[in-house]
Amino acid sequence: MKYAIIGTGWIAKAFADGVKISEGFSPFAVYSRSQEKGEDFARSVGAEKVFTNLEKMASDKEIDAVYIASPNAFHYKQSKLFLEHGKHVICEKPITVEPEEFEELFLLAKSKKLVYTEAIMMMHFPNRILLENAIKRIGKVSSARVDFSQLSSKYPALVRGENPNIFNPEMATGCLMDLGIYNVYFALYYFGKPEKITSTAHFLETGADALGTAVFHYPDKQITLTYSKVGQSRTATEIYGDEGTIAVESISKLVNITLYSNDGKGEIIAGDTEKEEVMSYEAKDFFRYIREYDLCRSEYENCADFSLQVSRIMKEIRTQNSMKYSSKK
Ligand SMILES: NC(=O)c1ccc[n+]([C@@H]2O[C@H](COP(=O)([O-])OP(=O)(O)OC[C@H]3O[C@@H](n4cnc5c(N)ncnc54)[C@H](OP(=O)(O)O)[C@@H]3O)[C@@H](O)[C@H]2O)c1
Repeated sequence: MKYAIIGTGWIAKAFADGVKISEGFSPFAVYSRSQEKGEDFARSVGAEKVFTNLEKMASDKEIDAVYIASPNAFHYKQSKLFLEHGKHVICEKPITVEPEEFEELFLLAKSKKLVYTEAIMMMHFPNRILLENAIKRIGKVSSARVDFSQLSSKYPALVRGENPNIFNPEMATGCLMDLGIYNVYFALYYFGKPEKITSTAHFLETGADALGTAVFHYPDKQITLTYSKVGQSRTATEIYGDEGTIAVESISKLVNITLYSNDGKGEIIAGDTEKEEVMSYEAKDFFRYIREYDLCRSEYENCADFSLQVSRIMKEIRTQNSMKYSSKK
């Protein structure tokens, strides 16, 4: 199995390390807009080939699959190119900007018996099941506060007047697309589809959302999602049941999970795990879906269904707050 990487950021390195842990091999090729940067990155991950032309990389007969870690606005176009050339695709979150784009590419992949999936750690990491079982132990859940507030490392650049990709709507980024997607995945996975969603967003001068809230309304519960790229949370996400409370330090990695009984005693459900190891599970599943395409069909399609539902909810929140981001076609 030979796979290629698009993008040379830290997340691409973490994924390559995750593949090394789970599959024992390095990427075959790397794409960068710059030959020099591509060579440096290839050296750091042990890749043989560097491309500065995406069409040429997509046409390379030796490549079976690609991991896409470019800015969000490029996900649709790049995924389509590689699927059209018969390559399996795992693409960083959000897999596409619009849910309709995901539906189109999922059908394209299906028609070619290719795997096309979103790189979302929680859908593949076993801690997901540990948390699911822990939730069953805290009685009737009527509310939760699902938070992902992480002060961006690019915030100082923004304050200096620069235009980092992560705060540039041209790149289809901003807080909801970058962090809020994890809140949506978490709420949808653990509490199901809400009856109604209400939401707010607060914008930067660049036009990107700096932070937001969304409330998922259910007949028997209310789940509040908060996300911010301009402030750092020091408390955890909390799920409140009538027989206990669960605290989750990170909803993206699903680590450091503690169950508290009503007398305040804490029981550790899961400790910490390094990012590369968490990512190794999504990488392992991606290659398993490719190798055992028919056997893994329902598992793979279940992940695709989540991607689509999450994308539709993100679109609803964007519409409620007049946020318009477009893909590069
Ligand atoms: N799973 C996770 O935990 C996680 C964490 C962080 C990010 N992500 C996702 O990973 C993706 C990349 O995020 P990032 O923060 O790494 O993005 P980024 O640093 O802005 O860009 C990633 C790479 O894309 C290329 N690139 C940058 N600007 C570009 C432009 N204007 N046109 C074309 N290519 C460009 C660069 O590679 P070259 O200069 O070498 O071409 C860069 O290394 C996003 O979809 C994000 O949501 C996921």
